[in-house]
Amino acid sequence: MRPSDCLTGEELSSDQLHELIERADWMKANPHGSNVLHQRTVALIFQRHSTRTRVTFETGIVELGGHPMVLRTEDTQLARGESIRDTAYVLSRNVAAIGIRTGPDELVQEFAEHASVPVINMLTAGHHPCQAFADLLTLRQEFGHLQGLKLAYVGDGNNVARSLAIVGALAGVTVSVAAPDGYQLEPVAGAQLTDDPHEAVRDANAVYTDVWVSMNDSVESAEARRQALAPYQLSDELLAAAAPGAIALHCLPAHPGEEITESVLYGERQRIWDQAENRRHAQKALLELLCA
Ligand code: CP
Ligand code: NVA
Repeated sequence: MRPSDCLTGEELSSDQLHELIERADWMKANPHGSNVLHQRTVALIFQRHSTRTRVTFETGIVELGGHPMVLRTEDTQLARGESIRDTAYVLSRNVAAIGIRTGPDELVQEFAEHASVPVINMLTAGHHPCQAFADLLTLRQEFGHLQGLKLAYVGDGNNVARSLAIVGALAGVTVSVAAPDGYQLEPVAGAQLTDDPHEAVRDANAVYTDVWVSMNDSVESAEARRQALAPYQLSDELLAAAAPGAIALHCLPAHPGEEITESVLYGERQRIWDQAENRRHAQKALLELLCA
């Protein structure tokens, strides 16, 4: 059965996820190969900043023959107190799908509850499934398969770490998360959790990191986060402790000198700029799955 929404990635079966990654790979080779959104509109609601998500959704929707309608919350009646329920009803009468970037996961869930068109999580405090789909595509392109790969995530156990753990397990990728006390993920089925970055990267095919201060973290917590997470920097030395041929990944935006060194960010083993491009291909495959 086709999933009705994508809030965490768990809505997809393992087979659907593998098909989505294969289709994304095909989309990359055939950018205008699908017209699934011909003369249809997709609403993209942004309550948080974005570069990649906005750019890749907008360009991807156009390549699928559709029209992206970016809505900044402060321009809508949501900012003046109109309910999520009423907004979801109105959008559902006019668009083919709704993407939302916000803070609370409950807000996206409420949207999905009331919308009669697919709702896509474009990042919440808890999840970033579209990023994880693009990352699986990046792994598949590098290694030719997903099953049996190991991905180590070092740093803050945040939304990106959680989505990698959830979606990775569905795809047969072992995800090992190294984070210090107080910044670790809650247990996620199939994921390995440790506070030792060297243990996490042992035999890993990819080493991944993300910012230490996320959009939904308070500014006041920033200094404590930087101190606690400093030993988890993705450096050449840490990458060298992974499997031979391991690649470095980062969802971006990066803070070179904090969670990743400049030499890894721009080095030979990074596939970070591929990841940024792969957002478009993976999201196109997702839109096709949800809207066909
Ligand atoms: N990786 C990612 O989601 O980037 P943006 O915040 O720029 O959209
Ligand atoms: N964890 C980061 C990801 C940005 C794409 C954040 O939520 O800000």
